Amino acid sequence: DGQPPIGENPGNDPLDRVRVDASDRHLTTNQGVPVADNQHSLKIGLRGPTALEDFILREKITHFDHERIPERVVHARGSAAHGFFEAYEDLSAVTRAAPFKAKGKRTPVFVRFSTVAGERGSTDVARDVRGFAVKFYTDEGNWDLVGNNIPVFFIQDAMKFPDLVHAVKPEPHHGMPQAASAHDTFWDFASLSPEIAHMLMWVMSDRAIPRSYRTMQGFGVHTFRLINAQGESQFCKFHWTPLAGTHSLVWDEAVKISGADPDFHRRDLWEAIEAGNFPEWELGLQIFSEEQSQSFGFDILDATKLIPEELVPVQKVGRMVLDRNPDNFFAETEQVAFCTAHIIPGIDFSNDPLLQGRIHSYLDTQLSRLGGPNFHEIPINAPIVQVQNNQRDGMHRQAIHRGRVSYEPNSLAGGCPFQAGSKGFTSFPERVAEDKVRGKPELFADHYSQARLFYQSQAPSEQAHIANAFRFELTRVQTVAIRLRMLALLANVDDGLVAKVAEGLGLEVPEPLPLATDAPIPTYPPSPPLSLLSR
Ligand code: HEM
Repeated sequence: DGQPPIGENPGNDPLDRVRVDASDRHLTTNQGVPVADNQHSLKIGLRGPTALEDFILREKITHFDHERIPERVVHARGSAAHGFFEAYEDLSAVTRAAPFKAKGKRTPVFVRFSTVAGERGSTDVARDVRGFAVKFYTDEGNWDLVGNNIPVFFIQDAMKFPDLVHAVKPEPHHGMPQAASAHDTFWDFASLSPEIAHMLMWVMSDRAIPRSYRTMQGFGVHTFRLINAQGESQFCKFHWTPLAGTHSLVWDEAVKISGADPDFHRRDLWEAIEAGNFPEWELGLQIFSEEQSQSFGFDILDATKLIPEELVPVQKVGRMVLDRNPDNFFAETEQVAFCTAHIIPGIDFSNDPLLQGRIHSYLDTQLSRLGGPNFHEIPINAPIVQVQNNQRDGMHRQAIHRGRVSYEPNSLAGGCPFQAGSKGFTSFPERVAEDKVRGKPELFADHYSQARLFYQSQAPSEQAHIANAFRFELTRVQTVAIRLRMLALLANVDDGLVAKVAEGLGLEVPEPLPLATDAPIPTYPPSPPLSLLSR
């Protein structure tokens, strides 16, 4: 089919132009000057001081001094691989997006898996959500599907994201604990945020301790739009399903592996690909109309809800194979910049207020993480199509633009019209006629139905794992009132679950949290913090 065989570098790999290989070459400085002695600095007498003029020593040390860049503010710990996506069908009836244009069409991808809360050097096997970010290098530009391994999220509105992350990360005064969920600030925030209930069920389940990156599902989480060449739009949720099956560790294994091999998931992915055992996922779409969505009983703009497959079945539309490890961790895995704003013709956003905030956040954070406005030129981020616009200059600019015209309109550049018109990206012209307000839609208020559905759909052994996870995590909480408030939240999910957790904590089940969103959440009398060391 004219495609390179799986596992072989495709010819003319765009990254070839920047690959460097030292074999059979002399050492040089950054200016290309051959270096005679790389072991000794230049001294005034063998026992004397080092000469300031030793430009070779200074260049070597200066570069070393600046080797580190900031880690990602979330998802700092990750592992990545190259591969391709192959469409099963021509999907042009529903979307004009390039990867779905023809049956069998292949699009190169780069995929980064990650934990969310841990630092760059933290363990792979912590209880946490996993990131599942896919960059499609399409022939109409880069499309990033920046998802997670859990189909719902903690919060409904981007306004709360900095608070969520501040609560999850180690506490600012002593930098503990490194484990995301085992501390007062996380559970304080959770117990005061009932919208978190559904996500908590997933995070306390075995889904949050995957066996391997190769055995995780992935989800776009938000509702997106698909748009065809006629401008017709439908809504869509994206699902990745591993062909190796979805598998998890149990907690005792995770704790042990974490100590014995904190690189467990990174090593597993790397070694599988080196051995030619290429991981593979199928992409599934849940496609539905606006009218259908009105009968769901929940709001499709609410990222704490999934769409049950009984309502909208998942249609398998292609497969993704990861068949090549990166050559260089920093250049590729660390410098890759995924962004929810990277969409292509045929795909558009929905008004999900969490997604809307993300569209801003990724570019903004990468401007400081990757040092200025030209990080799209870093090879792993560069699209395979030529980038052509009137943006100019800035720190570390690589492109050498020819000619004197970098403005529009102009009469001096000639040639074809610069903007692509109907061939280019066009936002779906959704009609919106509403008041400008803060707040949330009424249907966002049911926080417990899907949490209960998830818990009650689990096998008894899985339910026991969820109850045990809550027991373990909440025994790491020193403030009794927070433990009680969490029990009050769980009392709205399932009676059996809350009874088991309360028993583990040695507490009575309190009154459930009020269901009305405007009712105050109870506080409990203060008590001295419990010591964790005495446990
Ligand atoms: C990474 C913000 C919600 C998935 C990041 C980063 C930021 C961020 C600032 C670091 C990016 C970088 O330095 O390159 C936010 C905000 C959110 C949000 C403001 C909510 C308002 C979500 C959700 C998902 C998600 C709902 C999943 C659907 C990811 C992934 C990464 C990431 C997978 C890591 C990408 C990589 O591997 O480089 N997020 N995020 N985030 N986020 Fe979010």
